[in-house]
Amino acid sequence: VSTKGDFDHFMMKEIHEQPDLIRNLVYKYKSPQVIEKLKKVKDKFDKAETIHITACGSAWHCGILLKYYFEKYNKKQVNIELASEFRYRNPTLRKNDISISISQSGETIDTLASLQLCKEEGLSCFSIINTEGSTIFRECDENLLIFAGKEIGVASTKAFTLQVLTGYLLSKFCSNDLNNDIFKEIENLAGLIDEIILRKDEIKDAAKSYYNKRGYIFTGRGFMFPMALEGALKLKEIAYVHAEGYAAGELKHGPIALIDSEMVNVVLSSLNLQEKTLSNAQEVKARNGILLGVGDISDKELLASCELYFGLDLSKVGDLAGVAVNVVAQLFTYYIALFKGNDIDKPRNLAKSVTVE
Ligand code: F6R
Repeated sequence: VSTKGDFDHFMMKEIHEQPDLIRNLVYKYKSPQVIEKLKKVKDKFDKAETIHITACGSAWHCGILLKYYFEKYNKKQVNIELASEFRYRNPTLRKNDISISISQSGETIDTLASLQLCKEEGLSCFSIINTEGSTIFRECDENLLIFAGKEIGVASTKAFTLQVLTGYLLSKFCSNDLNNDIFKEIENLAGLIDEIILRKDEIKDAAKSYYNKRGYIFTGRGFMFPMALEGALKLKEIAYVHAEGYAAGELKHGPIALIDSEMVNVVLSSLNLQEKTLSNAQEVKARNGILLGVGDISDKELLASCELYFGLDLSKVGDLAGVAVNVVAQLFTYYIALFKGNDIDKPRNLAKSVTVE
């Protein structure tokens, strides 16, 4: 039986579990059994012309990030799709392509149907998955478990983080770079998340100041773009406020019209594309938007532009910076929902596992 222990909500408990689960993931992915699985996936991954990733919700956001990793580290062509769209289109599937389904529950109906479509077309099918023995797990040729333990909070936190890291480990394994430096980087990430959790009162104070604003736009570039989508989804789910995630460069193509003194722009920045992100943030500031930032401690210019800035030392976590930044967004969302008095673990209209269309 799962209990909340010292926490008021499973969501908070699951946020706190992340550093230890990350360390455990490293331990698991050094084991011969898991390496054997990685080898089986790599064999098909290397030969694939296109990698089709299908998923829903947070798992889809993870898939977008994995596309960026597979392009950068593996020079692969990646097709990341919402499972509910993919299954009813006529996607171009070639026999030596592979399919990767990402799912926490392993029961999401659209993700399952997409997998079955790929299977019928003769593709090798793999998953990044939390639930051993679930339907998706059983249908795949090989599964990479994320070892998140049971996730009870309806809003996914730890499962999302571990899906990203499992995909990152796969990417590094397939480029023959899964070595101690990578394991160290992932352990650094666990340490950084420990630090974020120790500073959660700062995030609570920020939520208290901004929880009743009209709307929220999360923006980021590159690896931070999927994190912007994820931050906004979480806020919609449990805080019931209008939130959008945008690629920072897209702001001026429409959403900037929403900016005024009641609109919060949460800027997710990293050492990657820092200057570009800064200039987008300054455009929001010039239109009297409320600018909140999360990024590297060295980014003095972004700090100076923001009403509140949560600085982190992102120098030792490489392309995983987004995972840390997303934990700040998880906590921000948790506290906003708390101040609004919402049912955090069981948000209205949502089910943990979506087994119907
Ligand atoms: C978001 C969330 C959902 C799930 C989505 C897919 O917090 O929990 O968006 O990510 O329903 O579920 P799984 O991963 O079980 O396939």
